[in-house]
Amino acid sequence: MYQYCYTRRCNNYIRYIFSLKRNCILLEYNLEIKNEFLKIYTQIHKHTCVDTYRCFILHQFAKHAANLPEGDVAEIGVYKGGTAKLIAKTFLEYTSRKHTIHLFDTFTGMPPTHPIKDTHHKEGDFKDTTLQTITNYLQDCSNIQIYPGFFPQTAKTLQDTKFCFVHIDADIYQSVMDCCVFFYSKLIPSVSLLR
Ligand SMILES: C[S@@+](CC[C@H](N)C(=O)[O-])C[C@H]1O[C@@H](n2cnc3c(N)ncnc32)[C@H](O)[C@@H]1O
Repeated sequence: MYQYCYTRRCNNYIRYIFSLKRNCILLEYNLEIKNEFLKIYTQIHKHTCVDTYRCFILHQFAKHAANLPEGDVAEIGVYKGGTAKLIAKTFLEYTSRKHTIHLFDTFTGMPPTHPIKDTHHKEGDFKDTTLQTITNYLQDCSNIQIYPGFFPQTAKTLQDTKFCFVHIDADIYQSVMDCCVFFYSKLIPSVSLLR
């Protein structure tokens, strides 16, 4: 797992350095990188509640993970499909290796929340989406597999799968905890686990 440790800004140029023990990833921002990002972001920004800055970081990490030698990809918390499409298109564009992007959501809104630990969301939030709409929206992503229902029950077939990139966007305590427990032992070295 990478931890953000350094940001430097000079004129139009920003560098982000993330590190895990001795592994480092350098995220750079210049006009070319901005245009690469915007090419995908313009297709997804109306379908996501994730802000532009975080989408940019997701795109950069996904590009990095696309070059890792093994592992599939997962997102928990798809909602209207914005970040799922950002991730799926990035993996299609930046590598020839075939990854499956495993996408998990109830598509009927947040599961039950904890009365104290979950202060921002309640059961049923994000229910203004449907599996059919998302399937249609993601039909140009040949690399996805959708798992409707309650995670981790929907992930039983993936016990032996390894992952090179996991985006946990479930937002509530129990779901995030379940994701950490499920994915931690399945991550390959140099993996990106973002939440
Ligand atoms: C913040 S939204 C995801 C936002 C999305 N990534 C985007 O691009 O806008 C959180 C989603 O997590 C889903 N979710 C939370 N816990 C879940 C669980 N245990 N199983 C399945 N879906 C879950 C909710 O249904 C909701 O749609």
